[in-house]
Amino acid sequence: MIKLPPLPYAYEALEPTVSATTMRTHHDKHHAKYVDVTNQLAAEKGLEGRSLEEIIAEAESRGERKLFNNAAQSWNHAFFWTCMTPDRRDPSGELLRLAQEAFGGLDELRARFVQVGADHFASGWVWLALDGGRLAVVDTHDGGTLAHQAQTPLLVCDVWEHAYYLDYKQDRKTFLERWFDTVANWQFAETQLAAAQGGGEAWRFERAA
Ligand SMILES: [Fe+2]
Repeated sequence: MIKLPPLPYAYEALEPTVSATTMRTHHDKHHAKYVDVTNQLAAEKGLEGRSLEEIIAEAESRGERKLFNNAAQSWNHAFFWTCMTPDRRDPSGELLRLAQEAFGGLDELRARFVQVGADHFASGWVWLALDGGRLAVVDTHDGGTLAHQAQTPLLVCDVWEHAYYLDYKQDRKTFLERWFDTVANWQFAETQLAAAQGGGEAWRFERAA
């Protein structure tokens, strides 16, 4: 069994960028449903008791699309909650150096992140990742995930409509700009970066007994 992880802050903590109404629906309904379906299908496929990362990899190798999508969405959302904070501070140090190297600076990284997210067709995710020692902005479709890829995810923003429609209607670009400027958790991104460079453990979905 995997468990729906609690939000690491109050529902209203990210207002006005993300409303409490959006957070309640997103976490308590959407994320909860992905977790429920993952547990149901994992049990049917003989994968109960496995870590979520193992379930994702196994579902993909077996071509079990419904299980893969729900398991990956369970992982992506848990990672996404951690990628936001009410106590934002600017990135610094190695992360800033890599942003300079890959994009020319933090403003350029922001522009790229917002553009990739805004241009993404239909549902998916926009990620900041470390790919071969270099920062990259990549998008994945639907339940696509970096959970089991060679790239290390540093940050992700959900660009499914359920992430922003109640607050921004169709204006995904403004959502992404405000998200990047006000709630992106750079301290977490720096922890992920350090882990990718051999300094500690990368984030994992907490395994439930
Ligand atoms: Fe979502």
